[in-house]
Amino acid sequence: MTSRSSASPARPRRGALLSLIIAIPVLLIAGCAALAVFGSAGVFAAAKVNTIGSVSFANALAVPPLAPSRLESDGTRVFELEPQEGSTSFRPGTTTTTRGYNGNHLGPTLVAARGEKVRVDVTNRLDDRTTVHWHGMHLPPAMDGGPHQPIEPDATWSPEWVIDQPAATLWYHPHPHGETDNQVTAGLAGLFYLRDDAEAALALPRTYGVDDVPVIVQDTPIDDDGEIRNEDRGFVGALGRDLIVNGTPGPYLDVETTSVRLRLLNASTARTYNFGFDDRRDFAQIGSDGGLLAEPNRTSAVRLSPGERAEIVVDIVPGERVALRSTEPDLGMLPVLAGQNGGADRFDVLELRAAATLRPSAAVPDALVPVDRIQASDAVTTRTFRLDGFTINGQSMDMDRIDEVVTVGSTEEWVVTNGMTMPHNFHVHDVQFQVASVDGKEPGPELAGWKDTIYLAPQVEYRLLLRFEDYADSDVPYMYHCHLLWHEDNGMMGQFLVVEPGEQRDLPGAPTSPKHDQHPDGYGPRQTEGTGHDH
Ligand code: C2O
Ligand code: CU
Repeated sequence: MTSRSSASPARPRRGALLSLIIAIPVLLIAGCAALAVFGSAGVFAAAKVNTIGSVSFANALAVPPLAPSRLESDGTRVFELEPQEGSTSFRPGTTTTTRGYNGNHLGPTLVAARGEKVRVDVTNRLDDRTTVHWHGMHLPPAMDGGPHQPIEPDATWSPEWVIDQPAATLWYHPHPHGETDNQVTAGLAGLFYLRDDAEAALALPRTYGVDDVPVIVQDTPIDDDGEIRNEDRGFVGALGRDLIVNGTPGPYLDVETTSVRLRLLNASTARTYNFGFDDRRDFAQIGSDGGLLAEPNRTSAVRLSPGERAEIVVDIVPGERVALRSTEPDLGMLPVLAGQNGGADRFDVLELRAAATLRPSAAVPDALVPVDRIQASDAVTTRTFRLDGFTINGQSMDMDRIDEVVTVGSTEEWVVTNGMTMPHNFHVHDVQFQVASVDGKEPGPELAGWKDTIYLAPQVEYRLLLRFEDYADSDVPYMYHCHLLWHEDNGMMGQFLVVEPGEQRDLPGAPTSPKHDQHPDGYGPRQTEGTGHDH
């Protein structure tokens, strides 16, 4: 039940990885001579990529359709998602076997408002097991769509919950243990927008696909035959040499307003981007993973590691063409190693083509929404997480082991450190966190709001503050993990329970860990009708 499927032939096996990890100190000492040896081992084959100036911008940017929904008599908003196989032509004359939700590739954008009860009926039309995880969503663990809520082929899973968090750009993707990288790479990903009154009251662009545009960036490696092959790899995982945005290669967007809001999602499996514009113009970052910032962050670049989001508003002049680019992301590591992990790469991403006359947009407000600061002094528990190799605190993911037990109603400080010389990041399910410090210093304005995923530069300590207010469940865990999906699939993930005060368990050993022989279908609602579940 919990065993992982065998790795696809294209994916380096764990043995290769372990020798890689052992080889890293050697690499550091021996420098470039060792690099050549390393390269010939085929593990660090990724070479520098620069697509600036060579992207044609010949294709209109696809905008994912808004997901239809219906309202049930009790007010529940119901969506339907069907993960399925399909085919997509990314290059003239080739077709690629892809996967999508309700279509060939990617999925529709779900939209729901704070306070609404939602249900998503997910029917798996694939030949293999999947799950659907609502990345960034605050919801009960049985509805979370992590590895404990598998959906077998032809089965329907119907999680429901009440939207109880600020307006934000969230997303959804598969999370079956050991298979997440392959399934996301094949195209299973979509957006989930949350709306609320505070966001609606602000003068911000919000016409979907017109002046409020999703920008899902992926470097899916598609070879000349149209097959998805992930042979260029860094330690981070597969690194594609060409981008697709909302599934569109070489995209342009016609702009009709003097400002456009772009909701950037790094849905790549391994690559970190540093987004900005070709003329280095400033823009306003208005949101991070979990919602709007308290005030706009005026900047010319925003770094996003896999899973992270940023909402930006950029001003446009009539008649101009300006390109969104990604230039060398600062990975906080030795240049020679960064270069093997996408740190030297540059991409043309999306061309904005302004009409000759533009409708005026309102200026971005100076104040956005109140962001209630979590105080470090409120933290009753401090936990430390050290990422090393593909382990967290020396442990590899075990679906039958609970790693941490949190008491509901408490505030905690999580001290997260990447102990390696290579990149990782860190994603927490259930709650949005705040960043108290980075390397002992106050974080920059881009990290001043709600986050669920954060880049971990090597050897830097990140102090995160988390408030666990509800959804206690002594059986079903939430996950925390590296969101470099190859790492996650290879065990760089742990599980935490949120329990009622009386239920604090001893660790390790996890007396409450789920027993899968007793729950052959995992946890979470199984049927579309009459599950009567409750939290
Ligand atoms: Cu975006 Cu645990 O995942
Ligand atoms: Cu990692």
